[in-house]
Amino acid sequence: MATGTMATTTAAAESGASFNWGFAAGAAFAGAAALAISQYSGESFSTMSAAADVPVAGLPGTNQERSFFMVKPDAVQRGLVSEIIGRFEKRGYKIVAMKMVTPSRELIEAHYDDLRSRPFFEGLCKYMSSGEAPVVAFVVEGKGIIKVGRDMIGVTDPLKSAPGTIRGDTGVSIGMNSIHGSDGVEGAASEIPLWFSQDEIANWNKTADKWIYE
Ligand code: RTP
Ligand code: MG
Repeated sequence: MATGTMATTTAAAESGASFNWGFAAGAAFAGAAALAISQYSGESFSTMSAAADVPVAGLPGTNQERSFFMVKPDAVQRGLVSEIIGRFEKRGYKIVAMKMVTPSRELIEAHYDDLRSRPFFEGLCKYMSSGEAPVVAFVVEGKGIIKVGRDMIGVTDPLKSAPGTIRGDTGVSIGMNSIHGSDGVEGAASEIPLWFSQDEIANWNKTADKWIYE
């Protein structure tokens, strides 16, 4: 903020005639910033604590339901991170945590623990923890997100996923299907704390929610 104001006034001083305009712009900028600060130091600030009560795993069945997602290495390599995460934002959902991780074999094994007996488990773990590309782990909050998130993703095999779904729009291989999403309340409850500590989750009030939830 201070830097922006200084840059404006310095540039104005150098250009001579436009000095007053630059000064006025700087003053207006500072005034707007002060107004913004005062808005958050008043009554509206207290409403920001409401989201702080949401537990890490969210509150299934409410508008604070949470699910865990991960952009897989294939999609990170292909530059699809914003395309994929943007779909959740566009739908009106709130992102409450996000980080890029190069997952260890141990973390991936824990994440896919229920698939240990499956023939593809070894290949899946090797691929996800190869280190050739990171993953982007994120938690999304909102009404119906656990089921709707899976609907948005599509079925496991991208070739069988409907156009319009993430997998149906981005892939052709079952082992490179762009994204992971929790498959139920139990899955979300174990995956969110597996990938994120409490202080990595942002309990914030999204003011646009009043235009999303009736
Ligand atoms: P995810 O957990 O990654 O969201 O995928 P999902 O629920 O749709 O499918 P899941 O059964 O949990 O399998 C996890 C991942 O393993 C790979 N897979 N390969 N070769 C195969 O038959 C096979 N089956 C599953 C997929 O990459 C799948 O996403
Ligand atoms: Mg699964």
